[in-house]
Amino acid sequence: MPISSHIISSGSYLPEKIMTNNDLAEIVDTSDEWIFKRSGIKSRHIAADKQSTSDMAICAARNAIADAGINASDVDGIIVATTTPDQTFPSVAVSVQAALGVPTCIAFDVQAVCTGFVYGLAVADNFIKARQLKRVLVIGAEKMSSILDWSDRTTCVLFGDGAGAVILEARESAKGQGILSTHLYADGNMRDMLYTNGGVSTTGTSGHIVMQGREVFKHAVNLMAEAVNAALDANNITADEIDWLVPHQANLRIIESTAKKLSMPMERVIVTVQHHGNTSAASIPLAFDEARKSGKIKDGELVLFEALGGGLTWGSALVRV
Ligand code: ACO
Repeated sequence: MPISSHIISSGSYLPEKIMTNNDLAEIVDTSDEWIFKRSGIKSRHIAADKQSTSDMAICAARNAIADAGINASDVDGIIVATTTPDQTFPSVAVSVQAALGVPTCIAFDVQAVCTGFVYGLAVADNFIKARQLKRVLVIGAEKMSSILDWSDRTTCVLFGDGAGAVILEARESAKGQGILSTHLYADGNMRDMLYTNGGVSTTGTSGHIVMQGREVFKHAVNLMAEAVNAALDANNITADEIDWLVPHQANLRIIESTAKKLSMPMERVIVTVQHHGNTSAASIPLAFDEARKSGKIKDGELVLFEALGGGLTWGSALVRV
């Protein structure tokens, strides 16, 4: 029997503090109407000053472990997708390992910005298929508020903080179960479209997000649709066979345009951007966990994850949950 990676549980965490569009209008020259119309966002969660990315990742991981009904010591791999680590090193993944009490294992971070969770899922899936890992925690965790320029209304209104996690388990199963395929892409020629204006080896600080909004929008719709089509082609299925599309939650207009390109009705698209904002690598696992726990996504259904982020990076993953 072939080995495949099954999502056996999920978990998430959102910071207590909620910042509404009206709260933002007190900081920068903007309005609830402008933000909602252009992005679909109404509010986002913002981490406390002393709350780090690993604090949020640990909470999401604990939820996922409890949801799976396993012990932390049953995990043998931890992959954290993040753009906003606590420190330059060590990784957030080893902080999660220590806090959870996971014995010696494989633990590292991946950096693919908003596509990070899909990258992490693909890496974990390949470790499992190579029979090197049995149970992997894949986490997306971000404190985007720490890299925002809070005086730049073109970016600070779009992002939020949070963490989401899934546990992948190796199972011998018939074809068509678990993660069916993953598709990863990057093109560094487009790195100036979305970046931070700093870094440890250049300015010595993390810098703030700078974005060419319109260019990102255009590429996001086209490239995410390409990544979705790659998944459909690889599995010889059509979009109407997908039960749920769980897209990166950047912007409602991007999500709607991508769904339209695929002729997928919005009833089958998971949308949480209205109250999460763009949480980068955390957005897909946060949306997935919310949809699973609310009973929308059910066991046995076919779910497609897709994302695009700085780099540019983009990708998709097709999963029978
Ligand atoms: N409030 C009020 N006015 C604003 C704001 C704001 N927060 N931000 C910009 N404006 C103004 C601009 O200054 C401009 O004014 P002007 O016409 O007087 O010059 C006007 O609104 C229009 O600005 P545009 O940038 O052209 O607005 P656009 O319709 O393109 O919407 C947006 C901007 C929402 C950023 C859009 O381009 C977009 O969604 N891009 C995708 C970006 C994205 O989602 N990035 C997330 C990271 S990448 C990812 O995760 C996929």
